[in-house]
Parts: sequence; structure tokens; C-alpha cells
Amino acid sequence: MCCGIIGVLAIDGGSVAHVIRESLKRLEYRGYDSIGVATKYNGRLYIKKDKGKIDEIHRKLNLDALPGDIGIGHTRWATHGEPSQVNSHPHTDCKNQIAVVHNGIIENFLELRKELIERGHKFKSATDTEVIPHLIESFIEDGYTLEDAVQSTLAKLHGTYAIVVLYSHLKKLICARKESPLILGVGERALYCASDIPAFLPMTNKVLFLNDGDLAILQGGEIQLRRIQSFSSPIQIRKPVLIDWTPEMAQKGGMPHFMLKEIHEQPKAVQNTLRIRTEEIDRLVKLLNEANEIILTAAGTSYHACLYGGYLFAKLAKINSQQIISSEFSEKIGETLTDKSAILAISQSGETSDTLNAINYARNYGAKISAITNVVGSSITRSADYFIYTLAGPEIGVAATKTFLVQITTLALLGLTLAEIRGILNNSEVQDLRQQLFNIPKLIEQVIEKREDSIKVTADLLAHKPNFLFLGRGINTPTAMEGALKLKEISYIHAEAYPAGESKHGPIALIEPDFPVVFIAPQDNTFDRIVGNIMEMKARGARIISVTDSRKIHDLSDHTFWVPKGVPDIFTPLVNIVPLQLFSYYSAVRRNHNPDKPRNLAKSVTVL
Ligand code: M6R
Repeated sequence: MCCGIIGVLAIDGGSVAHVIRESLKRLEYRGYDSIGVATKYNGRLYIKKDKGKIDEIHRKLNLDALPGDIGIGHTRWATHGEPSQVNSHPHTDCKNQIAVVHNGIIENFLELRKELIERGHKFKSATDTEVIPHLIESFIEDGYTLEDAVQSTLAKLHGTYAIVVLYSHLKKLICARKESPLILGVGERALYCASDIPAFLPMTNKVLFLNDGDLAILQGGEIQLRRIQSFSSPIQIRKPVLIDWTPEMAQKGGMPHFMLKEIHEQPKAVQNTLRIRTEEIDRLVKLLNEANEIILTAAGTSYHACLYGGYLFAKLAKINSQQIISSEFSEKIGETLTDKSAILAISQSGETSDTLNAINYARNYGAKISAITNVVGSSITRSADYFIYTLAGPEIGVAATKTFLVQITTLALLGLTLAEIRGILNNSEVQDLRQQLFNIPKLIEQVIEKREDSIKVTADLLAHKPNFLFLGRGINTPTAMEGALKLKEISYIHAEAYPAGESKHGPIALIEPDFPVVFIAPQDNTFDRIVGNIMEMKARGARIISVTDSRKIHDLSDHTFWVPKGVPDIFTPLVNIVPLQLFSYYSAVRRNHNPDKPRNLAKSVTVL
């Protein structure tokens, strides 16, 4: 999901540096904050790497000049350690004999790093990855073969990885995967391993898919496959599959748009975000809990995440908070802030000027500033006293989808800890809810798998409608608002959202026969009232589209987007928003608009 890796072994002895650079260019959509390439030539490693985009770095360093017929490369989307030259991959051991590129997150890197430092290893970067070459080095010093050293290293790692290892003394690549993507390409003149097919598609369309837990050794023209767990016996090599995608299709995982790909990546993005370290959550919770008041601020979709946070903190931890749209921050809050105020700013890009401006305003009053962002090293991280990174990987589509889900996932983690330390929930209640939160990625996957086709049919049917009303209650009011924003920004259909109870105070005047009204209607404590709201709309001839787990609501609806039953009320927005994202996507496509690049909008808005 984040970072792209590549390894190339030229069977015919040709030089590989330019092949690696061009492959990285095609993987840039997976991450683009730093680039690095390592090659092996005459028993030593040659490495060039830096922070920045590949073309800039190539102009500066001439990556193609690296010598050798075997090498590895990496395009980074930072998760540990801000984008910088030293934090760029490949990472090496103390003697610069082992170079590693990695995509994933090593959860126990701090413990491993400490042990290695105590044993005399010298670290250069702040990354989790650097423990890998040092561990391999220490096993090789103990007399292990390269393969055994890599396998023993992997056995020590907790977390996720796709890695490629290059060693100065052997023309051999070792790669392995656990919960991060890695595939092999089988060419006439070279073997490849990479995060994704576009990396090597112009050279070969023969792809060998690795399973989770596989380790592959590339040497000569041969591939040997093993299982990381039972290393001694090689397993049978699977047959390569022939891929008939264009490189552009391949970048989008075979999907027509990044937005759709990113919607499909949500289960993984949420799962990764649920791995945020407990200490990080605890630190932010401490900052919030010690304050006299909590104010959440953001723009657009991230503001809807703030609204969710407001309901969640109140329901779960009995904390009142304010949510303020960043561009309104100074006007709304006036001169009421103090050094006991805590600000929680949310921004996927970390670059939104309105949000940065709100933070700066609050800082003048001595308020404590915290932030949630998806982009490592972004401006918001420099403005905040404390921040948490969500782990969605890069989002290319202008419409926020997976970054919204990881923002509300992070808020859910914060809410649970707040509830526990404030004594509102006991430890076993928190553990029970946490367990159910960890089950959400599976449920999101189910919604996508089972409901996408029927959502598309509904979108095809309704995409000609000029206006939509979105209604929700309680914690799903922000879901309604986000659903409406998605529809309007990519399909250009006018969509309004309201708390359902407010509809009778004005919006109901719009309703005429066949006017589409979308209800977010889970079976929570608002259920009876939302049934009443649906009846009011039906009585005026509205066409009802519902996101629900209830048969009763289904019977009242013209179209139902089913979601799974049994999700705790406070987590329902995590699944309920998914059908609405798909509905917006297919409506935009039906109207012949490119959902990845909606008119007049930019991925990060850096003007006030
Ligand atoms: O990068 P940020 O989260 O700060 O961006 C805030 C808004 O500009 C952003 O959410 C915008 O509304 C998107 N187009 C939503 O899809």
C-alpha cells in the first residue's frame, strides 16, 4: 500500500540502474517522498538516494550511472522517520555489504534496534527498516548463509513487510513477503521482484504471484521458492501468469480509476491504522485529557471526521468537544482560547492552509496543538506539539476515501483509550470494543465484495437526478455529510446533508415525487426516529435510498445498500460510508466525469 520496491537481476549481465529507475518511475504512485537505488559491482555496493521526486533526484545524482548487473530500488512513502536522505531506502548494515528495501511496518523495531546498538551496531537512520540489514549482518557474522540469515531475521520481526535484500558478495536477490505485496517477473533477459506489476510490465508480462509467508531466491536464471516458516525444504515453483494490462491499467491495480482502487484498499488501510502504537495513542490522549476544553478542527472530509470524533468522544468517554471548520476557526473561537485548550487538527495532506492557519491562531493563545495526518513530514507535523500518522498510504484520487476511514479509525482508538483512563469503561469493556473494531476491516471488505455490483446498478439508474438529500442521525450525521460531499464533488450532482431531525425544519419543502433521499439508518438508538423521518419523506413521494442493516428499513426503501449487522453503534460510520463512496464513484462514471480529477479541486488546498 505504501512504498514501492523493485529488484532486478540481469541474467545476460547487462547494466540494471536505468531499468530500476524507470521501474521506480512507474511505481511512483505508491509513494513519492524519497527515492533510492543500490547496485552491486565487483564485490561492493553502490548506493544513491535522496529525498524528493525521482526525476529531480536523477537530474541531481544521475542514477543511471550506478554500475552492475544486479540491484534494488525504492520509492518511499514515509511511515517512520521523516523524508530525508538518511531515511531513504536502501538501508545498509555497518559494513555497507547488505542493502535492503522494505515496504511495510516493523512494529518491534525499537526493541530490536536497542539490542543491536548494545551489541555495537551503528544506526544511521530513524527508520524501522534499518534493523533488517543489521540483523542479517549479525547472523552472517555468526556463520549463517545469506538465505539462513534473512530467514532468521524475518523470524524476529513483528509487523508487515515486503523486502528485497542485496549482498555485495553474491549475484543473488532474496525477497520475502508478509502482508505487504510482492510479485516476481520472469523475463527472457532478467528476473524481477516488485511491489506491483507496472514496475516490470514493459519488460515482461509473465508474473509469479508470491503468497504471504513466501521467500524467493533469484539467482542466475533460476527462482527458488521457500516458506519463511519451514525454511529447509524448497516448495514447488508455481506457473507464471500472463498479464494483459497496459502499464497505466496496472498502476491502478487493473481498476479504471485510483478512486476505485483506493476504496478497495480501505480494509487494508484500516487494518494498518489499527496497528498505530499504543504509546502514540496514549500520548495524544494525555494531551487531550489534561485540557480544559477540546476543539477539533479541519476542512472538507477531514472536518466530517472531526464531527464523528465529537459524537464519539461524548458517547464513549463523556467528553464534550467543539468541532470548527478551519476557515472559520478564528471567527468562531474569538479570544476564548487559553493555555489549557487542546486543539486536535485533522488533515490527510497536512498542508491545508486553512487548517495550518487555525493551528497558528490557537498557538498564539498558548493552546496545546495535536494533529492527525497521513503525510509524514508534512507542514502540520512541524506546527503541532504532538501528532499521529494514519497509515493509509498515498491517496492519489482527489476525493478523500481511504484517508477518511483511517482518520475515523484513529479517533476510535483515541476514544477507547479516553474512555478507559477516565473510568467510563472498564478494561474488559474496552477490550471487547477493541476486538470489534479490529473486525471492521473484514466487514468493509464484505460490503465491497457483496454490494458493489448492486450499488453500481442503482447509481446507473439515478445518476441523471439533479439533486439529492442525505439524512442521518446521531453519529451517522457526519456519514450523511460525507456521503453528500463525495457525490457533489465528483459527480457534480447537487447534494445536501442534514441531521434527519432537522429535515422537517426546511429541507422537506424540496421534496416532490421521486426526489432522491438517502438515509443512513442503522439499528441504533435513533432507529425509531429515523423510521419516522423516512415515513415523512415517503408521504411526499420521495424515492428512498437507504444504507442499513434492517429489514424494516429495507421494506420502506426503493433501493437498499445493505451493510452487515452487529457493528457497535459507535463504529457504524466506518462501514456505512463505504456504499456511499461507491455510489458517488459510479454516479460520476455514469455521468462521464473523471472521479480522480474533479474540476476546480486540488488534492491539497494551499490557499486561504
Ligand atoms: O488534506 P486535508 O485533509 O486537510 O484536506 C481537506 C479538504 O480539502 C479535503 O478533505 C477535500 O474536501 C477533499 N476534496 C474531500 O474529498
